[in-house]
Formats: sequence, C-alpha cells, structure tokens
Amino acid sequence: MEAAWARLAAHHKSVAARPISTLFAHGDRPAEFSATACGFLFDYSKTNIDREGRELLLELAEAAQIGTARAAMFTGEKINRTEGRAVLHTALRALDAEVQVDGQDVMAAVRATHARMCTFAEAVRSGAFTVSGGAVRDVVNIGIGGSDLGPAMACLALAPQADGPRCHFVSNVDGAHVHDVLAGLDPARTLVIVASKTFTTIETMTNAGHVRDWLAAAGLDPAAHLVALSSATGKTAEWGIPPARVFGFEDWVGGRYSVWGPIGLSLMLAIGPARFNDFLAGAAAMDRHFREAPLQENLPVLLALVGIWHNQICGHATRAVLPYDQRLARLPAYLQQLEMESNGKRVAMDGQDLTRHSGPIVWGEPGTNGQHAFYQLLHQGTRIVPAEFLIAARGHEPDLDNQHRLLIANCLAQAQALLEGRSLETAREMMAARGFTGDDLEMQARHRVFPGNRPSTLLVYERLSPAALGGILALYEHRVFVEGVILGINSFDQWGVELGKELALALAPALEGEAVPAEPSTAALVAHLRALRGEA
Ligand code: F6P
Repeated sequence: MEAAWARLAAHHKSVAARPISTLFAHGDRPAEFSATACGFLFDYSKTNIDREGRELLLELAEAAQIGTARAAMFTGEKINRTEGRAVLHTALRALDAEVQVDGQDVMAAVRATHARMCTFAEAVRSGAFTVSGGAVRDVVNIGIGGSDLGPAMACLALAPQADGPRCHFVSNVDGAHVHDVLAGLDPARTLVIVASKTFTTIETMTNAGHVRDWLAAAGLDPAAHLVALSSATGKTAEWGIPPARVFGFEDWVGGRYSVWGPIGLSLMLAIGPARFNDFLAGAAAMDRHFREAPLQENLPVLLALVGIWHNQICGHATRAVLPYDQRLARLPAYLQQLEMESNGKRVAMDGQDLTRHSGPIVWGEPGTNGQHAFYQLLHQGTRIVPAEFLIAARGHEPDLDNQHRLLIANCLAQAQALLEGRSLETAREMMAARGFTGDDLEMQARHRVFPGNRPSTLLVYERLSPAALGGILALYEHRVFVEGVILGINSFDQWGVELGKELALALAPALEGEAVPAEPSTAALVAHLRALRGEA
C-alpha cells in the first residue's frame, strides 16, 4: 500500500506543473476519461489525471483490496468494528436478495417492514387512514442528521413526483424551527413522524415533546397522530405510539445511510410506494454496478480515485459539489454528513494515527446561484477547489426548456472557464480595446486574468427521476466507502460527534445558574449570555 502511495506521489510531482488543457491534445480524452453506467456519464477528463496516473490510482485501489472489502460489506460481515456492527443499508434496496448476519436471515424482516410501510403509505395517501380531523393533509418529520437530511433532501429533489400529503421537516433544537414549521398547520390534519434511530437524540426528543404538547393543546389525542421510525422500538412505547405505527430497522443501518428504509417514510408518503420503489431500484442498479464492474469502469471507484487524487495527492482540502439542479439544493448538506461524518476521522481502523489526511471538506450550492456568490474564489482565489458539477439533460418543466438549456450552458461554461482560464495577453487585449493604456492597462488586465487549470468533474443524467436520485445517492455512498477503505478508515462510526453532546448536557445546569463551568472561557460566555437574558 505505501509503495502505491509513493508511486502516486512521485507521479504527481512530475505532472503537477502541467496544464490540464494540454492533455486534450492527444487521443479522444473526453471518451477515454469518462465512464457510463446506470444512465449516468461521469466525465473526469478535466482533471490532471493521465493514463499513468489512473493506472497508479487503480493500483492503489487494488492494493487496498477494494473487492474484498466490498464483498465483506454486502455479505453482512461486521466491518464497523468499533460498534461491532454489519453495514447493510444496501439490503434495504435489494428486497429479493438473501442476506445473513450472524448466520440469521435478515431479509424477511426487511421485506415485512417495507410491506407495512407501503400499506400504511397507501392508506394515508388514499385517506383510508385518518387522524383526528380526517385525512392527513400535512406530515411533520421530526429528526436530525441522517433522520432528517435524507428524506428532506429527497422530498425536495422529487417534488415533481409528489402527489401525497405535504411533508415538512423539523430538525434543529432551536425552537424557531419547530415554531415556524407548525405555524399555519392544522394539528387535527397533521401526521407527526418521530424519526430517530436511537430514540434518545436530545434535539428530536425535545421537538417531539413540543409537538406532542401542540397536539394535546388542540384537544387532540397525540397518540392518534404519531408515527415512530427507530431501531429502538422498545423506547417508542413510552410515547404511547401504537405498534402498528412503529417501523423498526436494525442497527446495521447507519443514520446517514438510512433513507432507504423506514426513515424514508415521509418520502414514500409524498411520492407513493411505486415511485419510492423506483428510487430503491435506481440505488440497487448502482449497487450491482459497484459489485460487478471492473475497477476502471466502476463509477463509485472512479469518483473515489478522483477524490483521493485531489485531496490526498494534490493536497486540495475541500471539494465543491455543484448541482445544476435546483431541486438538489439540499444535496450538498446531505453529502456533508455522508462524507464528513463517514471519513472525517484521525485514526485508522486499528486505532493508529492516519498517515495522511482524512476525507475532504465538502460544501456547495446549486448552480447558477453559487456563480453569483462564491465562484469568484473558485476562479481567482489562491486555493484550488476541485469542483463536482451535476447536470440533467432535461428538466421537469417542458414549457421552461429554454431555461434548462441556459442552465446547461452555464454549467458547461463554468467547467470550461475553470479549465482554460484567461491569459494576461488576452486580458491586455481586452482592456486595450476598452481604451486603457500604460500602468492602468496593466493593472486592469491583471485583475481580469483567470489562471485556469482548475479541475472539475461532471456527472450527467437524463432527468432527476426517483431512479436517478437513488442512483446518485448510492454512487456517493459507495464512493465514500471506497475512499474510506483506501484510507484505512472505519466509515461507519461517528465518535467525533459525542464530546459536544456530552458537554451540552453538562452545561445545562450552568445556564440555569446552578453551576459555573470549570473552563474559564465557557464560564465567561455563560455569564455574558445569562446577563443578556436578564438572569444574572
Ligand atoms: O450525532 C450524530 C448522529 O448520531 C448521526 O449519526 C445521526 O444521523 C443523528 O445523530 C441522528 O441520530 P438518531 O437517528 O439516533 O436520532
């Protein structure tokens, strides 16, 4: 493994100064440095990866034994070693597969829960299931992290297919969130989903308690409105939620990988079971591709290797995800949890320090909005940010197809501008034509230089259908997995979120004035905030 890293580092040194654009002089680079599968085209031709670089990256993947690791995940081995768990979110979308954990079939329960979800969703959508005031008009999903980001992102992404009740999402413990979501809703016509794998998360339980009070204050029986989605089905009874409205899942479904099962109930309510099944099928197709395609044609592997090249080899710490698809507005946030909670680790699986950087800082916004905000830095900042563009060939609004063409043009233009830039000579000619001369011309021209040579990739799909969304999410899930395997990280635990949670609980008495924090900076800030609140 170390030899493969060293060969890559040496190769990078020899090509680092080379302009990416020169690579297009030989052969059919767009065809040679792109791959297609499951209705997607992944183009990585606008990176500084050449044939040799790709060979070395594939050697790295081979050295990391991706194939063995992949088989271990899909067959239910306990690869999440710090929690002693298997990692089987893929089983949630392979309903006819046979999967065992500890020698026990797990698929019968998965299929049964899926069937119960479908029956419930149909009943809600048809009006056969009623809450106190009749048919359900609004659904409020209370959850955070993986119990929020997946369904919230997917409900927005698939809005054109949504013909069920309106879905709303409450995640933040900031009371403003639940207040604003409930404002205008009729409690008598609202179904409340409490989504929490553990059913202990303070934000979710606090918000759920408030919503329960909101229902009771309207003279309703809260239990008639509540649904629970959880691995801790024992805890849901305390909330008086009838077992028929509890949808459980196993601990081998990680929070950030959970949209495919019960945590996806709000999405199923919005788009209906048939389209939800298309969403699963799109992901399952990507799973098959990931398991079967040779590494050099394997989209998740290629995305991962491009990511490793940019982050660990070239040293670019961040990655911008830029969907030219307004309905993927929450995709960057979803991917932040998927990638940063999975691969933001400082030790390897064996507990030893990592010898290179962990996963990248992921951020982004939909195009074209981002163009008028942070693209300035992408084009002319001193740091290089590899950009990942996503674009559909078609939108869902035929009468606005001219706008979709403009969207595509913007996406391709940005990638081209990042690649080619604009030279000082061209900038001088431009400014001379505008009448500038002498030092003024030079100064004006220098501000208009684009260094170019900034890498980007593009993922193209036909249209953002449920299947396409499923494929995109599975593609990114497996990409994160491959990067984790190459880095030697356990991508499926998240110990880094614990300390802040513990400290927040410990600070509660200090905010009540019952204790003074030992840490002086925190103590001073608590005192200041209490004074502003008129409490001290
Ligand atoms: O604090 C992080 C985390 O554990 C995430 O991994 C998870 O998705 C989120 O909190 C919510 O957890 P739960 O579904 O158990 O409420």
